[in-house]
Amino acid sequence: MNPDFTVRAASRVYIASAMELLPRLVEGRRVVVVTDATIDRLYQELLSPYEKILIGRGETIKTLQTVEQIIRRLVALGADRECFLLAVGGGIISDITGFVASIYMRGVRFGFISTTLLGQVDASVGGKNGVNLDGYKNMVGCFTQPEFVICDPAMLRTLPEREFRAGMAEVIKATIIADEPMFRRLEGATIEELRRDHELLAAAVRSAVRVKVEIVERDEREAGDRRLLNLGHTLAHAIEKCSPAMIHGEAVAVGTVAIADVAVRQGWFSASERDRVRAVIERLGLPTEPPVAMQKLVKEMGKDKKSSGGTIHLVVPRTIGRCEVRQIEKEQLAALFMAH
Ligand code: GLY
Repeated sequence: MNPDFTVRAASRVYIASAMELLPRLVEGRRVVVVTDATIDRLYQELLSPYEKILIGRGETIKTLQTVEQIIRRLVALGADRECFLLAVGGGIISDITGFVASIYMRGVRFGFISTTLLGQVDASVGGKNGVNLDGYKNMVGCFTQPEFVICDPAMLRTLPEREFRAGMAEVIKATIIADEPMFRRLEGATIEELRRDHELLAAAVRSAVRVKVEIVERDEREAGDRRLLNLGHTLAHAIEKCSPAMIHGEAVAVGTVAIADVAVRQGWFSASERDRVRAVIERLGLPTEPPVAMQKLVKEMGKDKKSSGGTIHLVVPRTIGRCEVRQIEKEQLAALFMAH
């Protein structure tokens, strides 16, 4: 079966049924699945032929300790360099497993089945792997492309409503970066329609994956254009640090509205387009207001460990479907984000 997308000539992305595809993709290989107990239960039929390593859930397990635990289990299983690691789950599981596969015995082959909307439209595609350190996100990791990624929209049926909405924030983000026709299609959609209408959901997933693949093709290592994928993320990361109650996609929704406001105040983006961005996010039941004072978030944004020196890369919308990266002084953050 032909993949829907190929990334860096190394990684195939399929938007298709995992049940039909997986046995063909791993035929004749020793597969070790990394997943959690809930996913293992939900997809028993799909995963029963393979050996498994079960890990916990949530951002708190995305650590070097979990990496070490998985590696020790691989050693105990006698997994050699020919084994194939298959992550089944959301972005946390794929980020950890991709990192383990990149360093275990100096690297083994690996692939993902992405079971969350956030994973399908962002985390699983593009080759970023890694874990957090001391509360700082993705401080340890590498770029290694998985051999394949399967995004099966039918798997999203079991996704809790809140997680589904949060994943849609990344889809909206992708359309603002580079897919105005899909943005327009989503303006007319409700969350219920997206959950019910397989064709619409598959089109939304395909749009976000296409936007990401095209950018990663140009800039795998995030030296330039890949930064565009961080639209809404500068504020989102600060929100996640200050308010653990908000999940990633919700923080991205708030961050996207906030940067649209910044862009309007600076004369970079029209107020009418900003209103459309806010409306589509509200319509999907996502938050648009920061959960803590902007002053606190501005301070947190300035602490970003991955920024270069006194400046920060900020992604700003110019029109729906086109964004640009601006390098700004950290001292300007307060003036930009706080309305006067
Ligand atoms: N999540 C943004 C990226 O993969 O570059």
